[in-house]
Amino acid sequence: MLFDSHAHLHDTKFRKDRADVFARAREAGVTRFLTLGDSLRASREAIALAEAEEGVFAAAGIHPSSAASWDAETAGELEELLAHPKVPVLGEIGLDYYWDKDPRTIERQQICFREQLRMARRLGKPVSIHSRDSNEDVLRILAEEDAGEPGGVLHCFVGSYEEARRGVDLGFHLGVGGIATYPKLGDLRETLRRIGPDRLLLETDAPYLPPQPRRGKRNEPAFLRFTAEAIAEVLSLPLEVFAETTSRNAERALRL
Ligand code: NI
Repeated sequence: MLFDSHAHLHDTKFRKDRADVFARAREAGVTRFLTLGDSLRASREAIALAEAEEGVFAAAGIHPSSAASWDAETAGELEELLAHPKVPVLGEIGLDYYWDKDPRTIERQQICFREQLRMARRLGKPVSIHSRDSNEDVLRILAEEDAGEPGGVLHCFVGSYEEARRGVDLGFHLGVGGIATYPKLGDLRETLRRIGPDRLLLETDAPYLPPQPRRGKRNEPAFLRFTAEAIAEVLSLPLEVFAETTSRNAERALRL
């Protein structure tokens, strides 16, 4: 049984065939899912899906790309959403320096990120962290904000072994997505091998970032199996053992 610990299943890209997507997932052994919002609106959609669909949990949070919307009113509404019983996680939140390197935007992103980390600590909710071209600042801010308690996951982790180690030492788990199956990313696979299975979570980030055998297609939870098989091999573990370990890790990291 596999756990897709990071996906956006409420996304409009699944509007037409969502029932089939869930059927294919379950057939592939993927039975539990965390669907994450990136704005208040998407977080509400995520919660509605979690209410409707078996095995689905939701996360609510403001993504760095929506950081311009962060203010006291948004914070208040986010906190209300986090009180919902099917919302164990605050996310996805973080920093993204890929799209916009303007220092004013970066400052806003950091405020939005820090204030949500403080909210997570206060509420005892783990966080799901997005980091793109920003590992150094993400790791520094996580340490400064004492985010290891309640901890959470560095979603779709891409970085050096030293960065992975720092994240794990802070109390975080690493999210392993389809990217980890790409031929060019041998260094990332070596990093995952050195970290070992006990701090890894499997994820698709569907509808984005499909694993190697499905590149170019819309990603969906059924494809999690390709990532699970590829990384189990890297770790020299039978698939069932890796699946069970990562599902247990997800329950622990996401406090289910
Ligand atoms: Ni995501």
